[in-house]
Amino acid sequence: MVTDKPLLRKIYLNLRDELPAVERAERSAAICSRIAELPCFTQAKALFIYMPMGSEVDVTGCAAAARERGILVGLPRVFPKRVLRFYPWEPGIALEKSAFGVWEPPIGKELRCGENTLVIVPGLVFGRNLYRIGYGGGYYDRFLAGNSYLAAVGAAFGAQVTDSLEPESYDQPLTGLVTEHDTIG
Ligand SMILES: Nc1ncnc2c1ncn2[C@@H]1O[C@H](COP(=O)(O)OP(=O)(O)OP(=O)(O)O)[C@@H](O)[C@H]1O
Ligand SMILES: [Mg+2]
Repeated sequence: MVTDKPLLRKIYLNLRDELPAVERAERSAAICSRIAELPCFTQAKALFIYMPMGSEVDVTGCAAAARERGILVGLPRVFPKRVLRFYPWEPGIALEKSAFGVWEPPIGKELRCGENTLVIVPGLVFGRNLYRIGYGGGYYDRFLAGNSYLAAVGAAFGAQVTDSLEPESYDQPLTGLVTEHDTIG
C-alpha cells in the first residue's frame, strides 16, 4: 500500500485532471443525484457543500434539490488557523473570490454544524475504508473533529477511489462515499 500522502496527492490529482470537463460535468450530475437519494439527505436540515476547485466534483447541483426540500445550503469560508466556517448560499447571494481563488459566500449569519447537518466533503483520494486525503491543510479533519454532524459524505469520481487508505492519528473518517457508480457506507 502506498502511504506517502504527497505522492498519492500527485498521482490522483493527475488522474482527476485528465478527466475531460464534459465527463466531469456528467459524472458530477450523477453524483449529485445519488447524494439527493441518500437517507441522510432527506433527513438533513442543512447541507454543507463546497464550490469546486479545479477538477473537483461539482456538487453545487445538489443545492436546488436541497432548497426544494427546505434544506438550508451552506458554503465554507476559510479563516486563519485553517478554520472553516459555513454561511448560507441562496439564489441572489453573490460569491467572493478568496485569495486561494475559491468562490466563498459573504460573511453573514453563520450556519452552525449540528446533528441535522449533512457535510459533503471534497478530496483528492478516497479509500473504501472511508478515509480520505485532501490538499493537505487539514481543514476538513479539523472541522469534522470539532463538530457534530448527521453525516460526512465524500464526493469522488470513481478514478479517485482506492481500496484502503492508511489514516494518520488526526485523519477523520467519512460516514459515506458517493461516486458516479457507487454509494459506499
Ligand atoms: N484536529 C486537528 N487539530 C489540529 N491540527 C490538525 C487537526 N487535524 C489535522 N491537523 C493537521 O493538519 C495537517 C494536514 O493534515 P492532512 O495532511 O491529513 O490534510 P488533508 O486531510 O489532506 O487536508 P484537508 O482536511 O484540508 O482536506 C496535519 O499537519 C495535521 O497535524
Ligand atoms: Mg487528513
